[in-house]
Amino acid sequence: MPDLRTNTGGIHSPNPFWLASAPPANSGLQIQRAFEAGWGGAVWKTLGIPIQNVSSRFGAHTIGGVRGAGFSNIELITDRSLDINLREITETKRLFPKHPIIVSLMVETESEWRDIIKRSIDAGADGLELNFGCPHGMCERGMGSAVGQEPTVNERITGWAVKHSSVPVLVKLTPNVSNIVPHGMAAQRGGAHGVSLINTIKSIIAVDIDRFVPEPRVGSMSTNGGYCGAAVKPIALHMVAALARERDFKLPISGIGGICNWRDAVEFILLGASTVQVCTEVMLRGYGVVEDMIDGLEQYMRTHDFSTIDQMVGKAVPACGEWGELDLNYETVAKIDASKCIGCQLCVAACHDGAHQCIHPVEGTRVPTVDESECVGCNLCQIVCPVEGCIELVQVDNGQARASWNEHMTEGKPIRPKKGAH
Ligand SMILES: Cc1cc2nc3c(=O)[nH]c(=O)nc-3n(C[C@H](O)[C@H](O)[C@H](O)COP(=O)(O)O)c2cc1C
Ligand code: SF4
Ligand code: SF4
Repeated sequence: MPDLRTNTGGIHSPNPFWLASAPPANSGLQIQRAFEAGWGGAVWKTLGIPIQNVSSRFGAHTIGGVRGAGFSNIELITDRSLDINLREITETKRLFPKHPIIVSLMVETESEWRDIIKRSIDAGADGLELNFGCPHGMCERGMGSAVGQEPTVNERITGWAVKHSSVPVLVKLTPNVSNIVPHGMAAQRGGAHGVSLINTIKSIIAVDIDRFVPEPRVGSMSTNGGYCGAAVKPIALHMVAALARERDFKLPISGIGGICNWRDAVEFILLGASTVQVCTEVMLRGYGVVEDMIDGLEQYMRTHDFSTIDQMVGKAVPACGEWGELDLNYETVAKIDASKCIGCQLCVAACHDGAHQCIHPVEGTRVPTVDESECVGCNLCQIVCPVEGCIELVQVDNGQARASWNEHMTEGKPIRPKKGAH
């Protein structure tokens, strides 16, 4: 039986699945139900000076028939009183002592940070998460992403929190920056025990084209929101990997952004996360989604011979490099398995109009043919083919030794001219 226990910066959890700081982690009763359902830990909805929210506050769009695959919100931090939240943290900790509660915090001055940190720890917090990520409302008040976008401010406030905390401090980073690395490094310099990323991406989800107002609509107006859900996973994976790859970056990572199933979680872990946090998928489908996440992760670990999560963390990081390190002489071509082809011709249209015009219809059959002498192995046909395993990209032995662009430029290694470049 694989061991799912994790340690993220000194925060121990029975499994890597945490609720992200958001509506599913808004109250004690919710988090208690989540722990019962199987969630390992929870990051409490951000505490601070309680705010007033607007109606409506969520927007979403459908991708490939999945409603809410892209999700947006203009909600702020908790609108519930600090006293009530703290009482519920204590009660939840009493009922579930083995499940870590990480309290997300956002205030302004050092004395506010000191006071709220002390009260959170007294209430039973196992760790703190500094919300330097919220891209709407709070940043206009000098908090959230306004802090996360300024490494010197991030470092200073992280330093305050670490100084006043007796439990591990995670810094939650904003993706609303061009390069995440300086921001992770600032958290490290400030003494953080780990980072969490990503928070939501500044965005406008849609426009009501009859009322001429963006969504979500608050009366006759709207504003930019924070984008999350399945659609943001590629951005989150990139940012997690960028930090995990950075030689001088030593902090553990809690990965967040578009995690919907066990496979997404495994991808984050392989790119360097030791825990994963989920918000949108729980908002759309409830706490029960964690059951399949746990089963799938265990099954994956068994089939890949991992007995602990630590053995998986960062396993794909060495394979994540710069473009200049890729082998320019590595060559593949598309092969169609005629026994699986349903003759839909989607690959023909895609290759002709979007790639290299080398899949052709064949008279007397619906199965097209690939002209391998022209195929550049771009993958597009495989992406559009509706039948799993019908098109495979197969390596061609072109007799050329490996040569990357960097090796070509520094060592003069020969590069084979690419097909399709005429
Ligand atoms: C409605 C809503 C409210 C959120 N509130 C907070 C919050 O209070 N504090 C915080 O750090 N992140 C907050 N987030 C961001 C999530 O914790 C998470 O970082 C983001 O949604 C990406 O994860 P996901 O793709 O699984 O949703 C919120 C997200 C949503 C959708
Ligand atoms: S891999 Fe690209 S170039 Fe080759 S057949 Fe498919 S779409 Fe065309
Ligand atoms: S897309 Fe796939 S199933 Fe459709 S014609 Fe091409 S190979 Fe056959």
